[in-house]
Amino acid sequence: MKILVTGGLGYIGSHTVVELVGAGYEPVIVDNLSNSNIKILDQLAKIIGYKPAFYELDLCDERAVLDFAASEPEIGGVIHFAAYKAVGESVKEPLKYYRNNFYSLINLLNAYKGKALNFVFSSSCTVYGQPDVLPVTEDAPVKAAQSPYGNTKQIAEEILNDVIAAGSNYKIISLRYFNPVGAHQSALIGELPLGVPQNLVPFITQTAIGKRDKLTVFGNTYNTPDGSNVRDYIHVVDLGKAHVAALKLAEQDSFKGFDVFNLGTGKGSSVLEVVKAFENVTGVKLNYEIGPPRAGDVEQVWGDVTKSANELHWKTELGIEEMMSSAWAWEKYLAENPL
Ligand code: NAD
Ligand code: WQD
Repeated sequence: MKILVTGGLGYIGSHTVVELVGAGYEPVIVDNLSNSNIKILDQLAKIIGYKPAFYELDLCDERAVLDFAASEPEIGGVIHFAAYKAVGESVKEPLKYYRNNFYSLINLLNAYKGKALNFVFSSSCTVYGQPDVLPVTEDAPVKAAQSPYGNTKQIAEEILNDVIAAGSNYKIISLRYFNPVGAHQSALIGELPLGVPQNLVPFITQTAIGKRDKLTVFGNTYNTPDGSNVRDYIHVVDLGKAHVAALKLAEQDSFKGFDVFNLGTGKGSSVLEVVKAFENVTGVKLNYEIGPPRAGDVEQVWGDVTKSANELHWKTELGIEEMMSSAWAWEKYLAENPL
């Protein structure tokens, strides 16, 4: 079955393409390269043995999306990764985020309206803000968004719900990712941050390789065991596999409408634990200092993954060691083979 993978040359999309092929699906990638590199297509070919179908297309272009949908009538499912995702940038340029993340979603839903299509959406644990109860379950209240980016995920879930309520033939699964990190075991694909990384793990690996002077740990006086923030880090390969599980669930006759699932390990790790795990696994001593807290950071969050285990029949297989070793292998690969 052909699966449209929007944003399929990006970080999570590219890893999901590999898992789709492994599960017997035929991915068709659409990406406008706004945050990805066309050479990822060749890297994917090295892993899966052939170059997947690829269309360079901006999903905000309604005409182009309609033409694409007409030219690929056999699409049986959509995994919609394409979006802007930098939280800080979204605060400075909210319209850029609302335009891209909403136009692309609406154009896509509109292009396939009337079809019985399985639709998987990339959501985020950001919808929970700082949960009152940990681990956080899918029925926890969605908190007032802390950023326009977070708001795009909350409103997108409402849009998807409304589309189902209006009687559409879609079957929609929204996946709320916790913190995706790591890289494919081949070290041929991984995260490719543009400019200075905002996220912890790419900042760690770029510091270790010498691209950055030092890592600043954003605060050590939080109400957590070691004072630094706690997150639920999930290996991107496990995350890719969860998308296959979501498609399989949506394909079942018994699945109807719209549902949401947490994708995490169910376990929290502090920033300092991640730093230690990186040092232990790689043998590299990391230059870091403790700095002030970062504005907008939630103190601690990790997911309850019982529903994913029971209904998606999926759970993570890889731990923090594999996350760190694969992220490091990818950073070293990039140093020797710049893309
Ligand atoms: P990414 O930036 O690496 O991938 C997104 C891809 O979409 C890029 O290749 C980009 O070029 C493409 N794209 C963006 N706008 C487009 C448009 N208008 N038309 C066509 N292509 C477009 O990001 P990622 O980390 O792989 O994230 C994928 C999805 O998961 C996003 O929706 C993101 O919000 C969500 N998510 C990511 C994280 C994370 O920490 N990485 C966490 C939770 C949710
Ligand atoms: C992790 C921890 C930082 C960098 C973001 C988005 C969220 C979701 C995932 C998309 C935090 C600390 C970081 C550094 C540090 N994305 N840190 N020094 O903020 O949990 O989540 O990505 O949906 O919406 O907000 O991830 O990797 O930025 O930070 O100490 O240089 O690492 O304070 O505690 P975050 P992150």
